[in-house]
Amino acid sequence: MQRILRSLPVLLLAGLAACQGESGPRFATSASLQDLMVSIVDPAADALWESVGSVSTAAGVEERVPRTDDDWQALRRQAIMLVESANLLQIRGRPVVVAGGQVEDAHVPGVLPAAGIAQAIAAQRQVFDGEAQRFREVADKALRAIDAKSVPGLLNAGGQLQEACESCHRKFWYPNARQPG
Ligand code: HEC
Repeated sequence: MQRILRSLPVLLLAGLAACQGESGPRFATSASLQDLMVSIVDPAADALWESVGSVSTAAGVEERVPRTDDDWQALRRQAIMLVESANLLQIRGRPVVVAGGQVEDAHVPGVLPAAGIAQAIAAQRQVFDGEAQRFREVADKALRAIDAKSVPGLLNAGGQLQEACESCHRKFWYPNARQPG
C-alpha cells in the first residue's frame, strides 16, 4: 500500500503528461517548405541584405544605410520573420512543395526533385533541424545588431546569414551540384 502511495505522484504526473499530449499544439502544414522560402525567408533576407551597402537599381548604384528609427524598425520586422521561420522549418509533416509543384531550378543538374528533397529531410531530420537552428542563431544575431543600430553588426550578420542559407541548400536542395571553384 505504501509503495502504491509513494508512486501516486508519479502516476498523477504521467496522467497529466498524457492529457497535455492530447491538448497539445496542433500545427497545420498546408503551407509548403517552398512557400516558407518564397513568401517569408527570401523576402526578409533580401530586405536585410539590401538595407546596407551598394545596391544596383534602375537609377544606378545607390549607397544605402539604415538611418532613421523607422528604417531600423522596418528591418526589425524582417529579422523577426527570419528568426521565427527557423521554428516553422522544424515543424514535422510539412510538404516540400504543394501538390504538383516543382522546386526552383529542378531542371538543373545536381538539383534534387521535390520528392528527393523530402526523402533527404526524412532521412536526416536532425541534420536539417540543426541547419534550421544555425540559421536561427544567425538571424538572432542580425536582430541584436538591429536593436543596437549597428551597421557593422548588420553587415557581419548578413554575411553569416548567406552562409547559413547556403549550408542548408547544399545539403538538401542541390547536394549534387558542382560547386563553383
Ligand atoms: C534548414 C534549411 C534551409 C535554410 C536555413 C534555408 N533554406 Fe532555402 N530552401 C531549403 C530547401 C530544402 C529548398 C528546396 C526546396 C524548395 O524549393 O523550397 C530551399 C529553397 C529555397 C529557394 C527556392 C524556392 C523555390 O522557388 O523553389 C529560395 C529562394 C530559398 N530557399 C531562399 C533561402 C534563403 C534566402 C535562405 C536564408 C536566408 C534560406 N533559403 C535558408 C532549405 C533551407
